[in-house]
Amino acid sequence: MMSRRRRGAIVATVAASAFAVGIAGCGGDDLKGNRADLVHGKQLFVERCGACHTLARAGTRGTAGPDLDTAFAQSLQDGFGRDTVRGVVHEQILYPISRMPERIVKGQSAIDVAAYVGEVAAKPGEDEGALAAAVRRVEQRTAAAENGKLEIDADPDGQLAYVVSAATAPAGPLEIDSRNEASIPHDIALQEGTSGPDLGRGETVSNGGVSRVSVDVRPGDYTFYCTLPGHREAGMEGRLTVR
Ligand code: HEC
Repeated sequence: MMSRRRRGAIVATVAASAFAVGIAGCGGDDLKGNRADLVHGKQLFVERCGACHTLARAGTRGTAGPDLDTAFAQSLQDGFGRDTVRGVVHEQILYPISRMPERIVKGQSAIDVAAYVGEVAAKPGEDEGALAAAVRRVEQRTAAAENGKLEIDADPDGQLAYVVSAATAPAGPLEIDSRNEASIPHDIALQEGTSGPDLGRGETVSNGGVSRVSVDVRPGDYTFYCTLPGHREAGMEGRLTVR
């Protein structure tokens, strides 16, 4: 994670450049106008950024990148406004420092995401109104194997959860299929108990791909989970009971 000192410097630099943009009045880069769509920004944040970043109001718990509430709490306390945070986030999306992938969202979408993060970073409480409704809560259900098959899909909106929290299956051959409609990659693996060795691990998939595990299970307790860094810790796991 970045040192506080380095982040302060970045915030100051961007504050200066956001000012310059304001003077130039360049339409496309106008981060100060009201044209940002926060609802769209939140949806995109959850789908494209949340797997790597924690942001409380967005309900994301990714750990590959810095926690964005913590990252901006100090700058906000130091008196930088939310417009500045917005500018820092926009800059980071377009020209990321080091290890973050470049331009995950572009143009108006980048403006929307930056505006949302700028609006809610380090802000206590919960989103309300249209923002609260922007991202559907993952409704987890239980599932039972049918004809030796179990379907345990990933949340189609890219939240770090499967749509199934617990499943049952009879002993014998079992195929687990996990469809992932989101652009964030996931897989599915099965282990004995909660920390045993993997009995099988499906391919990493996104955009409609299916991660598939074929195993022969005996009666007992198992855990299915996503092996991508940080995804299990953020909630992408569930229990399989074999009878
Ligand atoms: C694949 C993981 C990944 C994704 C996806 C990702 N980030 Fe990042 N992000 C990182 C990492 C890692 C860093 C830390 C960069 C460094 O210091 O090396 C970072 C840093 C940042 C920072 C700087 C935080 C600070 O400490 O100052 C911001 C802001 C940020 N990301 C916003 C976003 C937004 C917005 C998105 C979605 C459009 C996004 N990130 C998507 C991994 C990711």
